[in-house]
Amino acid sequence: MCAASRSLHPPWWQSAVFYQIYPWSFQDSDNDGIGDLRGIRSRLKYLRGAQHSLGVDAIWLSPIYPSPMHDFGYDVSDYVNIDARFGTLKDFEDLLEEAHRLGLRVIMDLVLNHTSDQHEWFRDSRASRLSTKRNWYCWADGKSCGRRPSNWNARFGGPSWTWDPEARQYYLHSFLKEQPDLNWEEPSVRAAMWDVVRFWLDRGVDGFRLDAINWLGKDTRWPNNPFRLGLRGYTRQHHLYDRDQALAHDSMRELRQVISAYPDAVLIGEAAADTPGGPASFYGKGDDELQLVFDFRLMKSPWCAKSFRLFLSQHVPSIPQGGWPTIVMSNHDQPRHIDRYGTGGDAEARARVAALLLLTMPGTPFLYYGEEVGMRNGKLRYRDLRDPYTKRFWPFRPGRDPARTPMQWDASVHAGFTTHRPWLPLPPDSSQRNVETEAADPRSLWSLYRRLLALRRMSPALSRGDYHVIEEGPCDCVLYEREARTKTGTVERMLVAVNFSQRPCEFALPSGSSQGLVLASTTADAATSTWDPARIRLGPDEGQLVRLD
Ligand code: GLC
Repeated sequence: MCAASRSLHPPWWQSAVFYQIYPWSFQDSDNDGIGDLRGIRSRLKYLRGAQHSLGVDAIWLSPIYPSPMHDFGYDVSDYVNIDARFGTLKDFEDLLEEAHRLGLRVIMDLVLNHTSDQHEWFRDSRASRLSTKRNWYCWADGKSCGRRPSNWNARFGGPSWTWDPEARQYYLHSFLKEQPDLNWEEPSVRAAMWDVVRFWLDRGVDGFRLDAINWLGKDTRWPNNPFRLGLRGYTRQHHLYDRDQALAHDSMRELRQVISAYPDAVLIGEAAADTPGGPASFYGKGDDELQLVFDFRLMKSPWCAKSFRLFLSQHVPSIPQGGWPTIVMSNHDQPRHIDRYGTGGDAEARARVAALLLLTMPGTPFLYYGEEVGMRNGKLRYRDLRDPYTKRFWPFRPGRDPARTPMQWDASVHAGFTTHRPWLPLPPDSSQRNVETEAADPRSLWSLYRRLLALRRMSPALSRGDYHVIEEGPCDCVLYEREARTKTGTVERMLVAVNFSQRPCEFALPSGSSQGLVLASTTADAATSTWDPARIRLGPDEGQLVRLD
């Protein structure tokens, strides 16, 4: 696979499992219905404690900076502080200290493309054409007859240009109008952002998840984007000029230089799936841009053997030498995968198989809070919605609020998240589907996640080994092998076999294939059984993890 897998001292983030926390929804400590940092801190032992913990290695916090929250924190009004809803800088430092004491790394979200329109940089910029920060944002005059500078449209709907009566020019915003785009051509913008990066790294954070990076550069001659026939909304244009410019890569190279002073820090990029060269282009030459880049293909792919096989046999190998894959099935922008992978048949059985795949495929896995208990997409009424994007396209698109409902900790009235009315309603099934109930049941989804996390932690093959896809076997099944040398010099080999169909299947691998021991099955209890390659049996929607002899 990747050269780095064979290095003697692989970086921590290659074998780590990340857990994304949506701060609004993880744990409320002051009972205002909104999650906060003290709440998160009180739950760290759940994530990585001596006993009964899930057992992850790093948390990624969606934005916690001061923000008017038009885009729930992705509209930052101060990059070097904490939003009062979540706590104080001191609360953050306490959280960081406690996390590190437990051996848990902490990743901040960093929004580079835009700020809030309430950020003092933007206030200053819009105040006068003579402001020293005027060029920090993208300002332009309209065309004749009051037309906008270009036809560009925004990711969240409507045009990307808004007239500012104070500034007497249009400003560009690729997302909401409350999120003006920074001008990354301006060296002092980059310098200011790199100061932000140092501010947090100096406080001990372990890296950043970088938001929407392919938007960083624009063609500042503002040419019109060509139209695509037959499509609507954001996709009705070819986004040739309003994103995906070389400047985005130049900026990532510059950032990589900045963090080289912090050898353990990791950069994880989020780029649109249709950026030229794909998000993987942000690995650069493998060592000069980002260490990790999200691959959202599994968030878009159907639940079938073909697409997972394709992911493993074509997409993962296309990552440049030196890059390292990521495995992501859910996040705060997409419907949760337990529902997305199909509502017919047994969604829970598929979620169990998805857990096996997430934690055994090659690359760094990212769990989204609550997926370990099988949290479903909330069924929200219009009046419950908070996210402007979700509201705008409701009920035609699933939107984002349904995947952001409060964490389900226990069977109490607000699921142990808060004692107040939660900011988004909890689903009615939280009384059965919650951490407390599932942790007490060895057959629960939670117990499966925990077992797989423990197996992965102890297995060099699973956490950072090479892999190959086994092509033999029925077309509804996916089989792959992971392999690595252990500290004692022996070779460890693991095999994963998954039946994607709702029928049982029985088959044989070619003679000479290794025997082994089934360490985990997604349908049976933890009990182990022997693996006979001459007579493999997988139940409907069953996955097995096998240690080969
Ligand atoms: C990213 C974030 C999303 C946000 C957008 C604009 O895609 O994941 O939540 O709304 O960028 O910052």
